[in-house]
Amino acid sequence: MVFGLFKKKKEKAKNKFLELEVKEIINETHDAVTLVFDPAEQNFHYLPGQFVTLIFEIEGKEERRSYSLCSSPFTGDDPAVTIKRVADGKISNFINDHIKAGDKIKVMPAMGNFITNPDAKTSRNVVVFGAGSGITPLISIIKSILQIETGSRVILIYANRNEETIIFRNLLDQLKEKFANHLHTIHILSQPTVSWKGLAGRLTKETLKEILMDLPDFSVQKSDYFLCGPTGFMHTVEETLDELKVAKSKVFKESFVSSGTEKDAATSSPEIIDRQVTVVLDNEEYEVGVPAKRTILESGLDQNLDMPFSCQSGLCTACRGKLLSGKVHMEESDGLSDEELEKGYVLCCVSHPLTDDVKIEIG
Ligand SMILES: Cc1cc2nc3c(=O)[nH]c(=O)nc-3n(C[C@H](O)[C@H](O)[C@H](O)COP(=O)(O)OP(=O)(O)OC[C@H]3O[C@@H](n4cnc5c(N)ncnc54)[C@H](O)[C@@H]3O)c2cc1C
Ligand code: FES
Repeated sequence: MVFGLFKKKKEKAKNKFLELEVKEIINETHDAVTLVFDPAEQNFHYLPGQFVTLIFEIEGKEERRSYSLCSSPFTGDDPAVTIKRVADGKISNFINDHIKAGDKIKVMPAMGNFITNPDAKTSRNVVVFGAGSGITPLISIIKSILQIETGSRVILIYANRNEETIIFRNLLDQLKEKFANHLHTIHILSQPTVSWKGLAGRLTKETLKEILMDLPDFSVQKSDYFLCGPTGFMHTVEETLDELKVAKSKVFKESFVSSGTEKDAATSSPEIIDRQVTVVLDNEEYEVGVPAKRTILESGLDQNLDMPFSCQSGLCTACRGKLLSGKVHMEESDGLSDEELEKGYVLCCVSHPLTDDVKIEIG
């Protein structure tokens, strides 16, 4: 197969990026820092729960990583992201070790579907389940709801290893003082010190059910739920809510890591062979040759097509496109809502064409 060639060059997309200056670095814990950005002169907008993609050039290689905004757009905070070190992780350690105030970072505009749009007229119970660095989008959601929805109540169930690793511990204490009747926080630590007086142990379905059942004036089915944390934690919470007959439409979740291990199986399927697809980008059509072992995004980038992307693992939706014709196989579709799937959206970073008439419009 002859793969497509492209007239367009990458420079065309330069203005899609912002350059934000780091105004302040806050050491949240021994292994997590917050970068506070100076939004001056930048048209930077976001909703609570959204993330930005930070772009670095390290040893001549471009690296992109998604980070949720931990600030609230409703409280006058400057936009900020908190990055926790991942063992042997390239960028999380680079940021923790090297980024300093005054540095300028290339950033893609905020995006993501894990959002809430707080409404002053709304009065609801919102239960927020977080673990480790998963607190970052949740703290933005919590601050925004408390600020705008004065009739709502937020219950945070927050799992960590020990007292030292609780990101935003002081901030949560301050919020509890300020919004005494509206914020309830329950910490659970898997390896606390002996002086810890709160809940201890691994978060199980039984513990979760007990916590929820003990909440005063609380209807499990009528509340909204926001979840973010490691895969095992998310499964436990989701299964619990399922067993408690909470409608899926009330549950909103964000994952930082992919749980899918389908890639090898997918690329060895007989239906996935070398094919040509049409990608519509900025109203122009491009023919992209997609080898069986590559995804549509990988193939587009290989052929110098400036397709948007961030996580490259089907989580962040930066590479989202609408399937106008044909069929694709997605190795992972967790990043898309049921509504988006029904409307025909696909994630190019995990998609392989199954037919010869695949046409995808990016955006
Ligand atoms: C939508 C979205 C929002 C995110 N928001 C945040 C945030 O607010 N704060 C934050 O700290 N991170 C966040 N992440 C994770 C972040 O994008 C990076 O994946 C993370 O910082 C690791 O990057 P790295 O370069 O250090 O690791 P890499 O060098 O890319 O990976 C090293 C190893 O660590 C594993 N790994 C990658 N990420 C994680 C993780 N989160 N936990 C455990 N193992 C991991 C990889 O599978 C790999 O084996 C978010 C991810 C997504 C998709
Ligand atoms: S690049 Fe993140 S979902 Fe495809």
